[in-house]
Amino acid sequence: MSDSKPVIEIRNLHKSYGTLEVLKGVDITAPAGHVVSMIGSSGSGKSTLLRCCNLLEDSQQGDVIFEGEPVRWKGKGLDRRPADAKQVTRIRTNLAMVFQQFNLWAHMTILQNVMERR
Ligand SMILES: Nc1ncnc2c1ncn2[C@@H]1O[C@H](COP(=O)(O)OP(=O)(O)OP(=O)(O)O)[C@@H](O)[C@H]1O
Ligand SMILES: [Mg+2]
Repeated sequence: MSDSKPVIEIRNLHKSYGTLEVLKGVDITAPAGHVVSMIGSSGSGKSTLLRCCNLLEDSQQGDVIFEGEPVRWKGKGLDRRPADAKQVTRIRTNLAMVFQQFNLWAHMTILQNVMERR
């Protein structure tokens, strides 16, 4: 165990895609200054958990706590969503994720890819 303050804490997180229950009560803590690894077979839910951490995916139950601040939710179960858009933006501003699939355009330069907006 570590005395460092957690940067991210996930407590009892549940996430389903329809009837497929992918995360069944996951707990994970990433203390400041530590490298935390997640190992699991393909399809076990590693990427899903990361997407839930930065709120790209909704989860149905449990807590996502960023630097001591719990995400506030509205609704329950499959209708649960973050309650405060400003909080989500603030958390995402300080949280980065490298995507497993980059979905880059091969005909464009790196700079053009980075500059491209939706
Ligand atoms: N958008 C989605 N809609 C429905 N099911 C999904 C979706 N994304 C992932 N899944 C399913 O959720 C489960 C977990 O997928 P996930 O991509 O999180 O696994 P993973 O551990 O990251 O796998 P890998 O090691 O191959 O990257 C799989 O059964 C997958 O098919
Ligand atoms: Mg993955």
